[in-house]
Amino acid sequence: MITQLNKILESAKNEIQKAGSIHELQQLKSRFLGKKSEIMNFMKKLGNLPREERPAFGKAVNEIKMKISQILDDRDQKIQDQLYEKSKSAESIDFTMPGRKREKGSLHPITKVWQELEDIFISMGFEIAEGPDIEDEFHNFDALNTPPDHPARNLSDTFYIEDDVLLRTQTSTVQIRIMYQHKPPIKIISPGSCYRNESDASHSPMFHQVEALVVDEGINFADLRDVLNVFVKKMFGEKIESRFRPHFFPFTEPSAEIDIICLKCLGKGCNLCKGSGWLELGGAGMVDPNVFDMLGIDSEKYTGYAFGLGIDRIAMLKYRIPDMRLLFENDIRFLKQF
Ligand code: PHE
Repeated sequence: MITQLNKILESAKNEIQKAGSIHELQQLKSRFLGKKSEIMNFMKKLGNLPREERPAFGKAVNEIKMKISQILDDRDQKIQDQLYEKSKSAESIDFTMPGRKREKGSLHPITKVWQELEDIFISMGFEIAEGPDIEDEFHNFDALNTPPDHPARNLSDTFYIEDDVLLRTQTSTVQIRIMYQHKPPIKIISPGSCYRNESDASHSPMFHQVEALVVDEGINFADLRDVLNVFVKKMFGEKIESRFRPHFFPFTEPSAEIDIICLKCLGKGCNLCKGSGWLELGGAGMVDPNVFDMLGIDSEKYTGYAFGLGIDRIAMLKYRIPDMRLLFENDIRFLKQF
């Protein structure tokens, strides 16, 4: 009997050492110590033994039970330790691994110019106004004194969403909205996106303009010249002169195009200015009295000026960007340079 008991102990030892999980251990515990285990069968046979042999045999069975229990406990502890070690190493930091680098971003050149020009105009007493990108023909054309047969209204130039719903082609729409809502004096700039059906190295179907509008009693062409002159010098440098060239816009009279002296050759003539010595910046003029009349502003009492500048164009000139499309392709290698 004792040899049988020792055999059970041996096989329990073997099996328990092999157990890899708490669950397996529980199964082994019931197999070796449970009600239906071999050891329990031995205990049941105790009654059949001669009286004098019973205590020694009972003691031997108990010892084996205790030993198996101890082996089970040891294995349990070992498995717990292993689990703990495993979870610790899964959470731990490997200091030899390269770190996750946080790339430092930079502002887009258009954003930089946009912020800079807002600062310049705010310092001259302008307020910032906004208007919607999706407009109607009234704000984009009619109220800006643009006749129904004007070529700019054509489908080939303007993106129409529906009849009478279009993507604004100019920020001059904001002039109309402001004059509709506010009585003079008015002194605003409105930067924003515009859309035209064209695309090449100097045109993008989506681009940015800043419109300016000043309306009050006694506003004249010299005020317009002066403000633009100050703006150009603050934006491009003291040496940079500007000039007006006669032009036509339906909503200003007289109208002009604004040029600045070439930033690269300072007027001598180079490839940037195509030999002319000048670079084009935008349009300007005195608000046409027809526009005031349409909006119910007394054109006998008030005068005003307006101008519109290309924000992308300013960025291209300032940072010598040769192709407008570079501004909108979002190539990180290009954008990183600013
Ligand atoms: N809106 C005109 C354009 O896009 C520019 C402009 C603005 C001209 C204000 C005169 C006055 O070409």
